[in-house]
Amino acid sequence: MITTLIKSIGQYVGQEVQLQGWAYNFRSSGKIFFLQLRDGSARVQIVYSKADVSEETWNALESIRLESSVRVFGRVKEDSRAPSGFELDGLSLEVISLAMDEYPIGKKDHGPDFLLDNRHLWLRSDKQWAIQRVRDTIITATYNYFHENDFVKFDTPILTPTSCEGTTELFEMDYFSDVTNNESGYESTNKKSKAYLSQSGQLYLEAGIMSLGRAFDFGPVFRAEKSKTRRHLTEFWMMDAEAAFVEHQGNMQIQEGLICRIVHDVLANCQHELKVLERDTKPLEAIQAPFVHMTHQEAIAKLRTLGSDIGDMDDLGADDETILTQQFDRPIFIEKYPAAVKAFYMKRDPEHPEFVLNNDLLAPEGYGEIIGGSQREDDYETLLERMLEHNLAIEPFQWYLDLRKYGSVPHSGFGYGLERITAWMCGLQHIRETIPFPRLINRLTP
Ligand code: 4AD
Ligand code: MG
Repeated sequence: MITTLIKSIGQYVGQEVQLQGWAYNFRSSGKIFFLQLRDGSARVQIVYSKADVSEETWNALESIRLESSVRVFGRVKEDSRAPSGFELDGLSLEVISLAMDEYPIGKKDHGPDFLLDNRHLWLRSDKQWAIQRVRDTIITATYNYFHENDFVKFDTPILTPTSCEGTTELFEMDYFSDVTNNESGYESTNKKSKAYLSQSGQLYLEAGIMSLGRAFDFGPVFRAEKSKTRRHLTEFWMMDAEAAFVEHQGNMQIQEGLICRIVHDVLANCQHELKVLERDTKPLEAIQAPFVHMTHQEAIAKLRTLGSDIGDMDDLGADDETILTQQFDRPIFIEKYPAAVKAFYMKRDPEHPEFVLNNDLLAPEGYGEIIGGSQREDDYETLLERMLEHNLAIEPFQWYLDLRKYGSVPHSGFGYGLERITAWMCGLQHIRETIPFPRLINRLTP
């Protein structure tokens, strides 16, 4: 007997196979029993005829509830009406574990709170299955792109003594009191010390590239964002990339190449998933280099012609991003934001020192910011000055300043939010469905 995954049954037409999975759906006429089986790889229909199977199998079929786990034996046949082109003639069925109750997620519409409360089960439904597969494809595309472009995976810490992106959104926790810190001794040994959950591995990645040249990290980051929007999670997955000897323009080229690669790989590998998600793929097929470029000042001017009352030196809000991205069919680089609204580490534009050599990358169709990046300040004295302006304690950042002390080089990097990119690829309204177990300001369970 061949045991196989549903996705591979096409190789066994006319043969008997064993499948193992969960009863996704079923109906019976009393004589014929139609079972929809899913096993993680795909879904298939198995058709049992009462006349052809043992009484034991028929009784087992009649007893099952949705999402019971079962082992199925049947003969594979081609069927042009089946979505996959194949079906099984059922020979027998064995229940592995009968669902103990009616499955709580039915075919009727449930509200988002009910579904999120049952996230551990909701993950089994078709759309959620498809989303996780698209997410996985984006992760793989990212690793492949970076490895093909001489970047090395470099794991940055999650427990940190300082903040990367400002202190307002920092998760703080107590850390051991006997922590021993570096020789500069910025932490006394008796005081209870504090640790912070990382908001981005960027600063550590900057240390990494002085060894490796080009590096990226990929992992969970944490932001105590008070905002309850469709784009914000308190725990999300960020990919940070950093490269030595790359300046502002080169930084954007790397981002453009990465996004084109992700879109390409999702279209090449996830057609079925996108169909399950009812994603119109035309807007994704239109994504090509070169992307649109505009400076922050040009974006402000454009927004004003579109009816916004945004001020010259204001950061772009989510609504502004949505309006802008609806004007183009490609992603938009917004460059050179006012220094006042951006982080301390960004290098100033030598021609216009009130602005920085940064970019956000906005995804089309109203999705907005998916990447934030910049060239980094590489001069010791200038960086020190910026840190003082931002009222940062210097001691805990001395290691970061050291990178400018010993062989500083021009360098740049960026970070993407995996859930934002997944939502865009899948065409989802809210990013909470893109991560297996979303953490929001009002949700920590399951
Ligand atoms: O723009 P951000 O804050 O940039 C940084 O953290 C830099 N240190 C990255 C770097 O240069 N290495 O965050 C990067 C991206 C955003 O563009 C957005 O896609 C995502 O992370 N992001 C969030 N995603 C979900 N929920 C949140 N609360 C997010 N905050 C940022
Ligand atoms: Mg940002």
